[in-house]
Amino acid sequence: MTTTASRPEPSAPSRGDFAPDFLWGCATSSYQIEGAGREDGRVESIWDRFAATPGNIKDGSNGSVACDHYHRWPEDFDIGRDMGLNAYRFSIAWPRIFSEVGGKPNEKGLDFYSRLVDGMLERGLQPWATLYHWDLPQYLQDRGGWNNRATVDAYLAFVDAVTRRLGDRVQHWITHNEPWCTAIIGNYEGWHAPGNTDFKTALQVAHHVLLSHGKAVPLIRANVAHARTGLALSLHPVRPASSQLEDIAATERHDGLRYRWFLDPLYGRGYPQAILETIGDAAPVVLPGDLEAIAVPTDFLGVNYYFPETIEHAPGHGPLSARVLPPAPGVETTYMGWEVAPQGLAELLLRIENDYRPGPMYVTENGSCYADEVGADGEIDDVERRHYLMRHLAALNAAIKDGVPVKGYFAWSLLDNFEWAEGYLKRFGLTYIDYASQQRRLKGSGKWYRSFLRGE
Ligand code: FCB
Repeated sequence: MTTTASRPEPSAPSRGDFAPDFLWGCATSSYQIEGAGREDGRVESIWDRFAATPGNIKDGSNGSVACDHYHRWPEDFDIGRDMGLNAYRFSIAWPRIFSEVGGKPNEKGLDFYSRLVDGMLERGLQPWATLYHWDLPQYLQDRGGWNNRATVDAYLAFVDAVTRRLGDRVQHWITHNEPWCTAIIGNYEGWHAPGNTDFKTALQVAHHVLLSHGKAVPLIRANVAHARTGLALSLHPVRPASSQLEDIAATERHDGLRYRWFLDPLYGRGYPQAILETIGDAAPVVLPGDLEAIAVPTDFLGVNYYFPETIEHAPGHGPLSARVLPPAPGVETTYMGWEVAPQGLAELLLRIENDYRPGPMYVTENGSCYADEVGADGEIDDVERRHYLMRHLAALNAAIKDGVPVKGYFAWSLLDNFEWAEGYLKRFGLTYIDYASQQRRLKGSGKWYRSFLRGE
């Protein structure tokens, strides 16, 4: 890791450089913060099951307590309000809402999210609800999970129950967080739940996730007056490792799966033909009408951006013979080993705008992990994270000035939390969590965001 601590202060825009109605939020997700794993009727999720196998989570932990947000949410929302946020992105845990296929929704689970939404509104936080941020009920995985087309119907029952209950107060709905991760990391690379390692399964999962998105949009609109609906994709600018034709072709294949495989069908172009030819028998089963459903017009696109990817031709490496290289020595990286490239955010947003013109876009996640330390004075002086935030907001401002219609920014994350396979070893919060005491402390980066939002 190289550090930015010794670098000069980056220049950052001020809040006044953005539109007055720009949304300034933080994002979280249910399994990563809530805890209360067995309370009020919540059933097992695929992440509980996955975390129970030794070796899957680096520190052997799980989300059963996490930030105890289930009980401490008023304090967390006070932190968000005091920071000056006007929006908050959270996700709804499906295992709190349905404990079996075809059953009745769990009123206690719905009540919890109803209280949560009221708590946001009382504090001036516009609620942005994500319906699926990876915590599938385990009983559905036992029937094949997203590989089984019936999971689409179970999802629609969940979406129906949640939007009926919260739709009088929540206007903004994100159907899915990062379908690529659900499909590829969870079902091909296997280092996320449910831990499958089969490429054909992964592509069928991706198809069913996209289909469930397409079918959920009209349902949400039927249940929610003035609904605004979209999904959040994890996207990366890509670069070939060299100017050799082989690396350029490998980059196109990688990008074809990482970017076009999701965006093309969402915007009415079907799955990319070149990738279909490359993957052959691994192509998903697509029934008549599916592609039309997936291409339903949406109200916005959510973009999660963390880092760019460099790709090399690697014969036999995966189904596409393409490999993502780690950052070269000397390249600035975070504690995750991810390249720090603020310009990549602007590049990515401009590319999406040119390729698809998706309408309003929101940066639904962007943030950084560093090895935070609490100083003797109790302060967390996370200068690298503060710089990361400042530099990415500068790039965002430039993209907007170049004409990309971005209407909001959600920092990942309000709180340190359970970082999936990394457990609690990796911190992304603007607020530090002492997991032993559950004490919260605003980090230097969070204080900077507060000054920025207050126009100080
Ligand atoms: C994203 C996830 C989010 C968090 C960040 C660091 O891919 O959506 O839950 O883990 O990465």
